[in-house]
Amino acid sequence: MSLPVEAQPEPLEAQPPNVSDYDYSNFFYSTSDDPFAVLGPYNDWFERALPQGYYLFSQAMSTPPQGEINLTEGLERKQVRLINLSSYNYLGLSFRPEVIAAAKAALDRYGLGAAGSPILSGMMDIHVQLEEALAKFKLKEAAMVFPTGYSTNVGMIAGLMRPGDWVIADQNAHASIVDGAILSKANVRFFRHNNPADLERKLKHAAGKKLVAIEGVYSMDGDVCPLPELVAVAKKYGARIMLDEAHSAFVYGANGRGVAELYGLEDEVDIHIGTFSKALGGQGGYVAGPRSLYNYLKGFARSRVFSCALSPVVTAGVLKSLELAQAEPQLRDQLWDNVRYIRGLLDEAGVDVGESTSQVIPIMLRNDRRVFEICHKLLRAGIYLQPVIYPAVAKHRSRFRVSVSASHTREQLDAGVATLVHVLREERILV
Ligand SMILES: Cc1ncc(COP(=O)(O)O)c(C=O)c1O
Repeated sequence: MSLPVEAQPEPLEAQPPNVSDYDYSNFFYSTSDDPFAVLGPYNDWFERALPQGYYLFSQAMSTPPQGEINLTEGLERKQVRLINLSSYNYLGLSFRPEVIAAAKAALDRYGLGAAGSPILSGMMDIHVQLEEALAKFKLKEAAMVFPTGYSTNVGMIAGLMRPGDWVIADQNAHASIVDGAILSKANVRFFRHNNPADLERKLKHAAGKKLVAIEGVYSMDGDVCPLPELVAVAKKYGARIMLDEAHSAFVYGANGRGVAELYGLEDEVDIHIGTFSKALGGQGGYVAGPRSLYNYLKGFARSRVFSCALSPVVTAGVLKSLELAQAEPQLRDQLWDNVRYIRGLLDEAGVDVGESTSQVIPIMLRNDRRVFEICHKLLRAGIYLQPVIYPAVAKHRSRFRVSVSASHTREQLDAGVATLVHVLREERILV
């Protein structure tokens, strides 16, 4: 049967839908049996989104992640000089001369790579030194180094938890926690963000081995977990607690040992996780805890067993960063001065920063369509802020995320905020 001509729907290509109407959830599935069938629709979208500026990811930087950077911007593909409010590097250590010198010396001594898994030939004395220094710093029996923060969570959770067990994570937990939980094949449940009462509801219904996975500072919202309340609930139900301090280690606590130190709960947290890619300006991750956990993970954390050890060059750089982070508490003071300063400027202008209380400051737009348009404007106005959209955050919770560093100058923060506020006002996000 054919419809009369005037009732026929227009062919799709005659009415291309707006690229901004799509997000990744449109491209997960296809009806075909060919795995490549998902590629076509995504690439059609991608080819249109790129020139229209709806794909402002992976823009290449050609300078260290400092307060000002050079970048090949994603729209016109030209080099621009920008104020950088996007990089982690919270203590400004990635480009410290001492760190660079340590990495260079390691390159001369060991060459580029470890050329083996840490369980086999890849363990070098520099890795042992870093693990020992970390354990000492965290006041734990042992610390294990992983190639990335991502593989730390995946290896730790999947290494420890089994089908039939329970992983109960905060709903805003990082993808690496979620992926580790899925890989473990344990039962996975999420409790409402930072909500001890909801954690209790979830724990009540979980019989057997239980792991509660939370973060010190949440990576997209910049808020701190209510650790005492969460610990109390977890203990009540006999659950072990894993605290990912990716964004809080070396930043929080009188000695920089993180949110667990801040709350005086370092012994109550069973598993301490962190990364070297944030405050230490390097790469890699760690699990710190009892020696028995270390010994077990050595055999069972597959993301470490079946992966090459962290490059000795990076390992030596991170070891030096760790030393500087401990020897120079003024770096933390400088960071917190900058955090207070920029928060004051944002507050004065009435910018919506959600629930953040830390150096991770979301600039909430809550408008998934407009985040890219505004991002272009910011780029053209001279600031580098990355759009954060689904699936990194929930739909309709899009934002930019400011990362403050001890190495930002007041001039950079002033200029960055003035430009941001100007653009937000022009776009009527701010009145
Ligand atoms: C809470 C959290 N855990 C783990 C990771 C992964 O760390 P890495 O980037 O060092 O692999 C991140 C990265 O953003 C994170 O925010």
